Amino acid sequence: MSNKKIIMTKKPIGVPEESNFKLIDEGSIDLKANEVRLQTLWLSLDPYMRGAMNRIREGETMVGELIGKVVESKSEIISEGAIVLSKAGWQTSPIVNENDIKIVDPRISPLSLALGAIGMPGLTAYFGLTKIGDPKPGETVVVSAGSGAVGSVVGQISKKIGCKVVGIAGSDKKVEYMTSELGFDHGINYKNSDWTENLSKSTESGVDIYFDNVGGIISDEVIDRINENARVLICGQISQYNNSGVELGPRNLKQFLFKRAKLEGFMVYTYEDQYKEGLDFLINMLDQNELKFKETVIEEIENAPHAFSKLFTGENFGKLVIKVHD
Ligand SMILES: NC(=O)c1ccc[n+]([C@@H]2O[C@H](COP(=O)([O-])OP(=O)(O)OC[C@H]3O[C@@H](n4cnc5c(N)ncnc54)[C@H](OP(=O)(O)O)[C@@H]3O)[C@@H](O)[C@H]2O)c1
Repeated sequence: MSNKKIIMTKKPIGVPEESNFKLIDEGSIDLKANEVRLQTLWLSLDPYMRGAMNRIREGETMVGELIGKVVESKSEIISEGAIVLSKAGWQTSPIVNENDIKIVDPRISPLSLALGAIGMPGLTAYFGLTKIGDPKPGETVVVSAGSGAVGSVVGQISKKIGCKVVGIAGSDKKVEYMTSELGFDHGINYKNSDWTENLSKSTESGVDIYFDNVGGIISDEVIDRINENARVLICGQISQYNNSGVELGPRNLKQFLFKRAKLEGFMVYTYEDQYKEGLDFLINMLDQNELKFKETVIEEIENAPHAFSKLFTGENFGKLVIKVHD
């Protein structure tokens, strides 16, 4: 079985473009002991990959998580037919070591959810919010990129706990989705000229938890409205990922002083040994019809480079995935 893979040919300046990537066919390579061959079914596109492009070398395979089916096995612990999660990157038929893959929890359906609401982004929402945000009923939670893979789950868990939720996103359609379908109390389109007034109106009693996915000016405005003992979680800074220089700042740290508030960054993999707890929580929410999700599905791995840029223009709506094979 021939493997098609996408390599990074040139480090991007600004938003990555198709010219930063190349598709190559490396033919079929024989398996060694303890290896399996996968047929990629779903490939995940995530904002962190932009940072990874600064770290990997030109000519290397683009990084990423995928869900694949084992089509050939020289492993004694993973058999043919198993559905697994792998970090093999943008490839159609990667060969991976048995120790580098995980069996996908069979309770997860549809399968693509294992890359989204019940995968890394959903777990990011769960662990960031519950372990660092420590939300209590009645508190106000603001989440930026609120309609996205992480933000949509942050808002829904917060509602389940009994918080008031304000989501910030970049279009009226996304605002409508957050309030009508996800049950957020308020949605703010940060591209509208009156967005800061709307933010003030929706957070009249201040902000207790800010789940920051974007950074920049949006975060400045939210941080200006935090309450005493607020918790600000730095989950992502997508507004900064394509910048060549560093924006001036931090700009309003005095808020943390006056409000005796907490500012904490976190990475989801810090909680890797507790993933079962997060998966159980999210699967239970899905079973109870408390976890809604949206996906932007793009067909064919060839289209991954173009699709990737959508994350930075806001053209994706919900979790962005590539459907590689049925
Ligand atoms: N710490 C961790 O362990 C961890 C794990 C996973 C993800 N993350 C971070 O969490 C954030 C969200 O990730 P995700 O997978 O859920 O992505 P996502 O929200 O599904 O997609 C990215 C969204 O970010 C928004 N965006 C893009 N450029 C922006 C800008 N300049 N200003 C404001 N918003 C912008 C766009 O939505 P709009 O249309 O609303 O602008 C876009 O749709 C990212 O920053 C990511 O790096 C962190």
